[in-house]
Amino acid sequence: MARKEPEQTAAPFVQPDASLGELREAATHCTGCDLYKNATQTVFGEGPDDATVMLVGEQPGDAEDRSGHPFVGPAGQLLDRALVDAGIDRSRVYVTNAVKHFKWTVVRGRRRLHATPKTVEIRACAPWLRAEIDRVRPRLIILLGATAAKSVLGPSFRVTLHRGEPMPSELAERVVATVHPSSLLRIPDSEARERAYGELVKDLRKAAAGLEG
Ligand code: URA
Repeated sequence: MARKEPEQTAAPFVQPDASLGELREAATHCTGCDLYKNATQTVFGEGPDDATVMLVGEQPGDAEDRSGHPFVGPAGQLLDRALVDAGIDRSRVYVTNAVKHFKWTVVRGRRRLHATPKTVEIRACAPWLRAEIDRVRPRLIILLGATAAKSVLGPSFRVTLHRGEPMPSELAERVVATVHPSSLLRIPDSEARERAYGELVKDLRKAAAGLEG
């Protein structure tokens, strides 16, 4: 009979009474799933520990993996612009990811290619995200793309069906999913890309309406 693999989870690393700073330090040692093996470092969330708004992305990309900071690469730059256009001050927003290690596959020259995290990896990393939400207690959580949405709203959630809609959740007053900024970077046609950008800004503005950024 096949032996059942032990569940991969970050849970043993997440101390229930730890502060956000202590969690960030503990996460540097996380081996809760295999993704730490190929990543340079853990990329934990950043921002004020009393932020009103929390943005959740998928996982660090190449630039984030090297620098140790979330959303500093091309997707982050696009997100910065979208936040400005939506009237949301990023310095008052907590920015994090559903998965804290960069998952990548093929090396082409020096390029590491992003690979989408599997459901088991998203689930394994969820205790970190839950702990961040618990410490920051944001009023609004914006989920950027399918991985973040699945982590918080469950594996059957579809961003394409419910983007921009406030979803029922005990985690915050408002939880809204929209597309990931990197999906815009992959649109080859510049007019279509600008339209998609306008839709993202609209979702962000609507999600934050009436809340202090
Ligand atoms: N994409 C993400 O989802 N998160 C980052 O931090 C960078 C790119």
